[in-house]
Amino acid sequence: MTPRTLSGRIVIATHNKGKLAEMRELLAPYGVDATSAGELGLPEPDETGFMFSENAAIKSRAAAAASGLPALADDSGVCVDALDGAPGLFSANWAGPGKNFAPAMARVEEELRKRGATAPEQRRAHFVSALTVTWPDGHEELFEGRVFGTIVWPPRGPRGFGYDPIFLPDGHARTFGEMESHEKHGVPADGSEALSHRARAFQKLASALLAKNRA
Ligand code: IMP
Repeated sequence: MTPRTLSGRIVIATHNKGKLAEMRELLAPYGVDATSAGELGLPEPDETGFMFSENAAIKSRAAAAASGLPALADDSGVCVDALDGAPGLFSANWAGPGKNFAPAMARVEEELRKRGATAPEQRRAHFVSALTVTWPDGHEELFEGRVFGTIVWPPRGPRGFGYDPIFLPDGHARTFGEMESHEKHGVPADGSEALSHRARAFQKLASALLAKNRA
């Protein structure tokens, strides 16, 4: 089978403006013309999967079928070991309909305290990003990225979004909330590994599907 490449017009299967901006930034060097499910007015499918990869595929399949374009979707979250992987798939839900992450972060801390998890080694966590690409003919590819670290309290740093201020990535002295966005999400030009889960998943996608298109 001929290897696939992503080129021309694609749809990013999201209604989230932040995610869309980040994906467009990542795709920019590859000459891909990316519209989004939100911009095309496509309906948002229910995320009924039990894994990040299933939820990403639900989104990319729906967008590819509705638009007739190759579709790229991301599903992500933070998994805390001492909480049996919670909030995990429900990372966005913990912030409620108002998407307020101050109480969501406080809930993580409260649950850790209930379990007596005060030492850094009891507060291990990782972010996961699953990226799926579905073509209109049904062909599909999956790329996953993870970044491991520790939950800190109180939250640190005004940058980023979601759980960034309480996540201290391994080998770093600053939380994601204290880092500039290029430091967290950037893809190093020298080919070394990116830091964030999403950028790591994107590096895999780029080397499989985009490398030949690089301008
Ligand atoms: P999704 O839109 O269903 O993929 O939900 C992802 C949720 O996971 C977000 O709303 C955040 O709560 C959390 N999350 C995913 N990636 C990050 C990140 O890079 N930093 C902080 N929180 C994140």
